[in-house]
Amino acid sequence: MLRTHNCGELNLTHLGAKVTLCGWVQRSRNMGGMTFIDLRDRYGITQLAFNMEVNATLCEQARQLGREFVIKVDGKVIERSSKNTKMATGEIEILVTAVTILNSAITPPFTIEDETDGGDDIRMKYRYLDLRRNVVKNNLLLRHRVCQETRKYLDAQDFIEVETPVLIKSTPEGARDFVVPSRMNSGEFYALPQSPQTFKQLLMVSGFDKYFQIVKCFRDEDLRADRQPEFTQIDCEMSFIEQEDILNVFEGLVKTIFQNVKNISLSNVPRMTYDNAMKYYGNDKPDIRFEMKFIELKSDTENYYVDNFATRFKVFDDAQYINAIVANGCSEYTRKQLDELTDFVKRPQVGATGLVYIRVGNDGVCKSSVDKFFDADALASIAKKCNAMPGDLILILAGPQQKTQKAMSELRLEMGNRLGLRDKNVFAPLWVLDFPLLEWNEESQRYHAMHHPFTSPKPEDIPLLETQPGNVKANAYDMVINGVELGGGSIRIYDKQLQKKMFSILGFTDEQAQSQFGFLMNAFEYGAPPHGGIAFGLDRFCSLLGGADNIRDFIAFPKNNSGRDVMIDAPSQIDDAQLKELSINVTK
Ligand code: AMO
Repeated sequence: MLRTHNCGELNLTHLGAKVTLCGWVQRSRNMGGMTFIDLRDRYGITQLAFNMEVNATLCEQARQLGREFVIKVDGKVIERSSKNTKMATGEIEILVTAVTILNSAITPPFTIEDETDGGDDIRMKYRYLDLRRNVVKNNLLLRHRVCQETRKYLDAQDFIEVETPVLIKSTPEGARDFVVPSRMNSGEFYALPQSPQTFKQLLMVSGFDKYFQIVKCFRDEDLRADRQPEFTQIDCEMSFIEQEDILNVFEGLVKTIFQNVKNISLSNVPRMTYDNAMKYYGNDKPDIRFEMKFIELKSDTENYYVDNFATRFKVFDDAQYINAIVANGCSEYTRKQLDELTDFVKRPQVGATGLVYIRVGNDGVCKSSVDKFFDADALASIAKKCNAMPGDLILILAGPQQKTQKAMSELRLEMGNRLGLRDKNVFAPLWVLDFPLLEWNEESQRYHAMHHPFTSPKPEDIPLLETQPGNVKANAYDMVINGVELGGGSIRIYDKQLQKKMFSILGFTDEQAQSQFGFLMNAFEYGAPPHGGIAFGLDRFCSLLGGADNIRDFIAFPKNNSGRDVMIDAPSQIDDAQLKELSINVTK
């Protein structure tokens, strides 16, 4: 070992000890006859002191050290005269007796400190330098802990970790595949796995009964803050279980990780059906840190019209669906604030055509943006239906059901933000259950699997497969925390005939199903156990625990929003010889 200690461990108990430290020069300060250097390594920062009077040559040498030089120092632990109690090593410093330069460094493109002057792009290009900064480094340490806790928990429950291949055949899970040309099989391609779904099911057929893997998955989809083209799943599967068993085992995993990584004890995770999630939150991943549930109004708007109001409100009359939320204590919102909310709901991403509001004054009297159409009694009845109290603001949207639910879901989250109801240090996990098996896709004019084609319909709904496929529910579940879909899974089909039927509902011919998934359906003929599983997004889990919005911060070497790794400059063109070998003609 080149060092006796690291830069984060020395304190007053080490006074007088002769030590050797190694690390990077974070910054140096010359103060009269003294020079101080902050020496940094993974574990922390230790202050080095050089005294001109004690050793002028050494002090001169210290003054020549640039930022990010890698050095080794020998010295003695002494007590600091001005202590910094915020740092673990803040009560001591090292009176240096010798310095060795292990490597010099050119000036870094940004300051490598907690507060940096480097913008996003430059820090991505020099990611290895950004990783020296505490914030980013700590994110990776958190990720390491989550992985270790996962392995410990699952190993203790008899799960075994099995690696599945990365060069595979495509599995349809909604996204495009990344493909890899095969040199040895001219004109043919492997696909990178979107998830190890079929392999983990085959491992169940093999009898492994409890499998897990912390595994890279690849999806060629548009990127967002919570999506990367390559990301990591904690992927799990179990045999001879029912949905309840999966929920219990993996609720246990989530609780253990929160406890051991964040010292937070979560209480039992509440459950909500998909139908209720849509009805009350317009969203299959509701943020239940705050209430603000939807109130459906269409069914009784008719009651609110009074005879002496000749004008009818066409927006309500024409709407398929009308709903409201109540923002507590917001009745005094200014015109400007209400205009901002109207602009918000009209943004194309939100998609509403307008916003109706009712202020419930502190005296209980209601005033609204639709006073022309509804009198005070009518508004008061709406307020009553919404359970709105004096001082509240009722926000109403009207339009086609799905679109309006989606827009209200966005408005609800926006109000949650404005009212400070989405505290990053509060965690509200939720199981969303009973997803529909299928969803209708207008573009392709056929049903798509809501989760994936291997998800089993609820046994009692199997008869509906032929007649009302859209009404069939599945034993499929998502773990949602603070509005983030952390994980999802299902009980699987393990019967060849049912799997065949599922493919046919999804528009596969028998030949297509056989050629793409014959390996799985054939395996079901050799004694497939009942099984089911789940996969958690590791990157999402870490960013949630770390209080960040972008999963990129928790990935050592992430891609940018255009799917590029700007550090290594990938993707990149390959030379003609390589292309030829792969039998690919590309006109550059
Ligand atoms: P699913 O597609 O729901 O299920 O994925 C499981 C979890 O993976 C995470 N995730 C992502 N994270 C970052 N970037 C992405 N592009 C991305 N896509 C998904 C999410 C998600 O909840 N094989 C099934 C699981 C199963 O049925 O057992 C599957 O992959 O957190």
